[in-house]
Amino acid sequence: MEKTPRGHRLWPPPTATLLVLFYLFVATFAAFTPPDNYLFDCGASSSTTPSNDRIFVSDSDARKYLAYKGKDIQVSIPSANVPSPIYLSAKIFEKESAVYTFHVTQPGWHWIRLHFFPVQNTNHDLQNAMFKVKTDEFVLVQEFKNNENPKWTFEEYLVNVTTERFSIIFEPDADSFAFINAIEFVSAPDMLIQDSGSMLFPKGDYSGLSNNAFQTIYRLNVGGPIITPENDTLGRSWESDHQYLDPGVTASNVSVAPNIIAYPEGESPLIAPPVVYASAIEMADANVQVPNFNITWKMDIDTAFTYLVRLHFCDIVSKSMNDLYFNVYINGKAGVTGLDLSTLTGSLASAYYTDIVVNSSMVTSLSPLTVQIGPMNENTGTRNALLNGLEVFRVNNSVGSLGGEFGADGKTTNGAGKGTVAAVGFAMMFGAFVGLGAMAVKWQKRPQDWQKTKSFSSWLLPLHATDSSFVSKSLGKAEEENQTSPNSASPPIVSPPAAAGFASDHRPASTADENRNPAEVPAISNHSETAIRANFSALSGR
Ligand SMILES: *[C@@H]1O[C@H](CO)[C@@H](O)[C@H](O)[C@H]1NC(C)=O
Ligand SMILES: *[C@@H]1O[C@H](CO)[C@@H](O)[C@H](O)[C@H]1NC(C)=O
Ligand SMILES: *[C@@H]1O[C@H](CO)[C@@H](O)[C@H](O)[C@H]1NC(C)=O
Ligand SMILES: *[C@@H]1O[C@H](CO)[C@@H](O)[C@H](O)[C@H]1NC(C)=O
Ligand SMILES: *[C@@H]1O[C@H](CO)[C@@H](O)[C@H](O)[C@H]1NC(C)=O
Ligand SMILES: *[C@@H]1O[C@H](CO)[C@@H](O)[C@H](O)[C@H]1NC(C)=O
Repeated sequence: MEKTPRGHRLWPPPTATLLVLFYLFVATFAAFTPPDNYLFDCGASSSTTPSNDRIFVSDSDARKYLAYKGKDIQVSIPSANVPSPIYLSAKIFEKESAVYTFHVTQPGWHWIRLHFFPVQNTNHDLQNAMFKVKTDEFVLVQEFKNNENPKWTFEEYLVNVTTERFSIIFEPDADSFAFINAIEFVSAPDMLIQDSGSMLFPKGDYSGLSNNAFQTIYRLNVGGPIITPENDTLGRSWESDHQYLDPGVTASNVSVAPNIIAYPEGESPLIAPPVVYASAIEMADANVQVPNFNITWKMDIDTAFTYLVRLHFCDIVSKSMNDLYFNVYINGKAGVTGLDLSTLTGSLASAYYTDIVVNSSMVTSLSPLTVQIGPMNENTGTRNALLNGLEVFRVNNSVGSLGGEFGADGKTTNGAGKGTVAAVGFAMMFGAFVGLGAMAVKWQKRPQDWQKTKSFSSWLLPLHATDSSFVSKSLGKAEEENQTSPNSASPPIVSPPAAAGFASDHRPASTADENRNPAEVPAISNHSETAIRANFSALSGR
């Protein structure tokens, strides 16, 4: 992948008008067809189609991807207060772990979306289910807890899949069970997250993002309406920002028609659809007094993790170029100073985003994540500041977990697990005693001529020199990735490379139909952002 740092490029002006027209065209028709597109409606007797282009296959069609030795339990209810029919049925896994394994046709970013709703049934109280969800490398949910929040929820993750097979594992606690209502495992475009971002503190560049796994914690369409998966270019949900907006200052909504938003080089509607850039929060009465305040958003985060904060900007307020300069702060530290969008993008109403990695161990004094925008102190241009969109992703910790201190292999962030340490220590001690005992016994029975033989190893070796107890289960690691990443300079249409990556021996479980029906009623449009918020917050105890 091209690792050119984004952000400080200058726009060649002469052909701007033509290019704007070109990008307008592109913005309207940008489409991404995911090479891998598995949508499972677990426990459902027939497939479910919440919208035209998303078909969740039935449980029997999903079963061929499932390895599970326990009893097959499916539960469903005819109706409930849920945003989509995918929540009306669930599959329950007792005692045994359940493993869904997907064939990956093309390596790279993939969304994992896990949907949960505690369906009422006679035998299992799903609200008290206790389980873990992981992949071979990453822990997604360390301990599922739904008892405080008997609502529908979903969790979204983004992982860079480099193996030909990819598994999602549901692991019930010893005396409990696991459940799942729907699973999405869907390719995302390479350009979605670049390898490098800027580091807030200590200030500098951060590279290596492409090897991390992410969990979406907040995704806000600032100053605008909620956006449902059906209205997003990549099936994402965007909530409204106003519950995080500090009411202390006067900020106001501003919006323009989405079809005027342009996407310059390096930007794409796949990063965020035009409707995100077409609305913003700006300083109210910016021109009346001499405004001197910051607009502040506060969001709770678990400070044990590092976060990737993606800020979306688009100057939809200026009347002329080079008139708006402002500062962006994260937890009191300057994220961007003197941000001049029109120079960065070459025109007004052009999309721009920037990624900032926040090491939350540096900001413990301010527990919530705080994003602020405010005017520059210099007397340049109009005193205003704006923000159009905000995404906050949790980055996996050093043991590959997004849920807590334990990694998929049982290691912890403190070096090793408490339980693991004790168990391993005891095993080693026990092993040592057994070994010493065996050696002592052998010593007793040593051949009389042992001193004469060249080697005593043959009789002093352990009783059973077993082949190996550490036979690794080969999961079919990809030999190589000869995938050609779309160059960031190419137009923002990402089409699936015909024969890149892995050869396909399976058809995807379902295929996306790019035709969106404008008359389609959005599945969760009648839900408040509080409900959407519940999506991201319920499981991780934020
Ligand atoms: C995924 O990871 C591999 C191996 O580190 C890397 O070569 C590739 O560029 C990454 N893909 C993306 C989309 O970042
Ligand atoms: C902005 O618009 C949202 C609805 O989209 C509304 O709830 C909110 O109160 C508005 N905020 C301001 C500051 O006007
Ligand atoms: C805005 O916030 C930053 C960081 O918290 C602070 O340094 C700056 O003085 C604030 N600006 C105004 C005008 O209050
Ligand atoms: C985050 O800060 C902690 C404490 O200063 C430091 O140990 C750690 O290396 C930092 N992480 C990164 C990614 O810089
Ligand atoms: C996340 O996991 C990857 C792969 O295990 C690792 O290389 C990376 O350092 C982890 N990220 C952090 C911030 O520890
Ligand atoms: C989604 O898009 C359709 C048309 O494309 C529109 O009618 C509807 O209002 C949009 N819904 C939301 C929540 O943006």
